Amino acid sequence: MPDPTVDLTTRLADATLANPVLTAAGCAGVGRELAPFFDVAELGALVTRSIQRDARSGLSTPRVAETASGLLSAVGQQGPGVDGFLATDLPWLAQRKVRTVVSIAGTTLEEYAELARRIGNSPGVSGLEVNLLEVAADPYQLGKVVRVVRRETARGVAVLVKLTSEVASVVDGAAAAAEAGADGLVLIGGPRGLSIDPATMRPRLGGVVGGLSGPAIKPIALRCVWQVHAAMPGMPLVGVGGVRTGADALEFLLAGATAVQVGSAILHDPSAPLRVRDELGDLLAARGFDRAADAVGYAHRKPDEEPHEELVQR
Ligand SMILES: Cc1cc2nc3c(=O)[nH]c(=O)nc-3n(C[C@H](O)[C@H](O)[C@H](O)COP(=O)(O)O)c2cc1C
Repeated sequence: MPDPTVDLTTRLADATLANPVLTAAGCAGVGRELAPFFDVAELGALVTRSIQRDARSGLSTPRVAETASGLLSAVGQQGPGVDGFLATDLPWLAQRKVRTVVSIAGTTLEEYAELARRIGNSPGVSGLEVNLLEVAADPYQLGKVVRVVRRETARGVAVLVKLTSEVASVVDGAAAAAEAGADGLVLIGGPRGLSIDPATMRPRLGGVVGGLSGPAIKPIALRCVWQVHAAMPGMPLVGVGGVRTGADALEFLLAGATAVQVGSAILHDPSAPLRVRDELGDLLAARGFDRAADAVGYAHRKPDEEPHEELVQR
């Protein structure tokens, strides 16, 4: 259970989340997969795998390869498409009162518009997370997608935009998303990597190039959160990349994130999100924070703001 003395609630546009720990897209399916391990309604929010307009069978296998410091994955957006999601998955989540953020991925502006219209106006959806795929690195194209999604999505439903670190300036992409109406930013989607099997002397992944996740990318994700928070202090940021423990989550809050997502850690420890939540609560309490919100961006304080006696002495 989380430490009862610390207020872990966090804001996501119009919604209040019970705690700042979410799942990362693609690592918790559509929620049902985690139900044998814990009550999914206890999550700050469940982020679904990316939903497409049409059913897709995904990339050829293998889709996941272990590397020395994290997973390389290229799934290729496998799934039943929006019809299947709305017919079976979303009702399951809504019935259990799971705070749900639906990741959407389109290949055209029209597809993003349709996904936003259909999912972003459905009861039981707290937010959309825009998976930008190929346009993630182009602030102009990114802005066009976000504008369309925001326009088609119900007012009270948060539009979160997942950004890539593989750009000259993550702040430029963040600014373009904000200007187009994003309510929050998710930092980061895994940078692309490659692994070759010395036995077969071919790429290990069927899709050749995959997204890198896990401990290797945490410093990159933290750097992105830090830079965007410094440039846009009021913007809600969700940190993702290598969160396995409460200490990892605390680092993201201190860098400026209002929430974190747990991704590939779930694949070998399905109850990791609630463990991270509880560990985060304990760490905040040990440092004298009454509210998680007070830790957001705390690492940015000026040297002359030291020492925060009441915080460091406990
Ligand atoms: C198996 C797998 C599937 C993923 N599927 C998606 C997806 O559908 N959409 C998406 O935006 N990100 C997807 N991701 C990326 C994660 O959401 C996350 O950005 C990345 O794994 C970094 O977080 P981590 O280090 O905690 O794993 C996937 C990652 C993995 C490992």
